[in-house]
Amino acid sequence: MELPVVNDEQVELLLADLLEQYGYDFTGYSRASLKRRIIRLYSLDKALSFAEFRYRVNNDQDYFKRFVEQITVNVTEMFRDPVFFKTLRDTVLPKLGTYPFIRIWLAGCSTGEEAYSMSILLKELNLLQKSLIYATDLNPTVLEKAAQGMFGLAQMKQYSENYILSGGTNDFSSYYTASYSLAKFDEELKRKIIFSTHNLVSDHSFNEFQLILCRNVLIYFDRDLQNKVLQLFDDSLDDLGYMALGTKETIDFSPITGKYKRLANHKIWRKVS
Ligand SMILES: C[S@@+](CC[C@H](N)C(=O)[O-])C[C@H]1O[C@@H](n2cnc3c(N)ncnc32)[C@H](O)[C@@H]1O
Repeated sequence: MELPVVNDEQVELLLADLLEQYGYDFTGYSRASLKRRIIRLYSLDKALSFAEFRYRVNNDQDYFKRFVEQITVNVTEMFRDPVFFKTLRDTVLPKLGTYPFIRIWLAGCSTGEEAYSMSILLKELNLLQKSLIYATDLNPTVLEKAAQGMFGLAQMKQYSENYILSGGTNDFSSYYTASYSLAKFDEELKRKIIFSTHNLVSDHSFNEFQLILCRNVLIYFDRDLQNKVLQLFDDSLDDLGYMALGTKETIDFSPITGKYKRLANHKIWRKVS
């Protein structure tokens, strides 16, 4: 059997370095996934030794950026889990639509596909004008990509299928212009999105929201960090506001759970007290 190139102790050393050197705290992340990704990067970049690898992370700013990009998982898609978006369309957003203003926080938005999906939904429900979407992530590189609003043309077939499954009835291609291998989404969809860095581990609440989405992010955190972040969301959510998580995530074990009522069969909770 091949020995892992980076051992548990070395993973801890790297995490301590990141905190001390750059103020990035990954100590509350589940170790299995972190370690797998560190080992992947180590092999990918053909590090000669752990000492050399560690030196680069600590002393080369560009490499540190690459390291953060590679140890966090950025996989996303438009209208991911279409049934979830259908519930937003049919149940959640019509309720919020009765309010004078809708503030939405997408925490861990990655390259922005979720934000543009939300914008399309709001536009189709005639709510975009009175909405504001704060789309945040700890990783500035994914946010730069998100702000461009350009995604691979090759993905559009699948995104269009997701869109239809989420209840969309328009021609999905009416939302973008194709240019070479890219689909550039309409400026209008971007006008109500604010992309900004925010680290769920160390940054505070920055507004009051009626809807918070944090999907497929908590899954990478240990229980304590999940509780801390859920508390942050609770502090940032208005009464009767909604909180949505990914399919494998829950608030069930968290101290805030008593204040929330779950929408049947969905990973969406409403703050009821
Ligand atoms: C798998 S993606 C999920 C994207 C999108 N929410 C979705 O469900 O398709 C996870 C994102 O969480 C971000 N993330 C990880 N740790 C974070 C933290 N501490 N604060 C903010 N974002 C974080 C990553 O950079 C990544 O872009």
